[in-house]
Amino acid sequence: MKRKRRLAPSILAADFMHLQEQVDAAIAGGAEMLHFDVMDGVFVPAISFGMPVLKSVKKGCAIPLDVHLMITQPERYVTDFVRCGADILTVHYEAMKQPARVLEEIRTWGVKAGLAISPETAPEEVRELLPQIDQITVMTVRPGFGGQTYIPECIEKVRTIAAWVDEAGYAVDIEVDGGVKHDNIDVFLEAGANVIVTGSAVFSGDVKQNAEIFLQKMQEI
Ligand code: DX5
Ligand code: ZN
Repeated sequence: MKRKRRLAPSILAADFMHLQEQVDAAIAGGAEMLHFDVMDGVFVPAISFGMPVLKSVKKGCAIPLDVHLMITQPERYVTDFVRCGADILTVHYEAMKQPARVLEEIRTWGVKAGLAISPETAPEEVRELLPQIDQITVMTVRPGFGGQTYIPECIEKVRTIAAWVDEAGYAVDIEVDGGVKHDNIDVFLEAGANVIVTGSAVFSGDVKQNAEIFLQKMQEI
């Protein structure tokens, strides 16, 4: 099954004083999802933003919001993030005691359930959860900061998961997150990823043009 390719710019790297403009430029350049990185200072060292910002972004953004929770015990906040406008709600495997229950709860709210795995997590650990999710996020950097260089070993995990998804025919999008640039996106696409998160490579310089270059490569490769 061919998975639709989508660009999901991460606003973590945006200029928050000009957020609407920058989001509009990313959409004009072809972005079809907006990636929203929530960090709690516990699961990851940094703290980013949360519900009030999501609520505002929802009002000014017509494309689906892909909310990536880098927070510990995310089950505490599922309903809050659903109410604030998440269209896809992604929780980290490493942050939960009962991932299957949390993923099920997300779906009961009519929101797409996403599962993220950090670099130390092997794909085998989450294989049995694939029928229960709509998207898997393979972290290609250690979660917590934008602007890092991707870890090549994580690419093999994308390949493995893509093979399982194809073989079983699951309707699961495969997202990669961290270190994707214009000059390395081919590596991620060729491994089987179809949702491309990118922060610094879109939001530094000309946002619309940066997105367009990604889109062009996503069509060509
Ligand atoms: C990292 C975040 C990423 C990050 C991507 O913890 O989950 O979404 O913002 O940014 P770049 O593309 O700069 O690596
Ligand atoms: Zn992210």
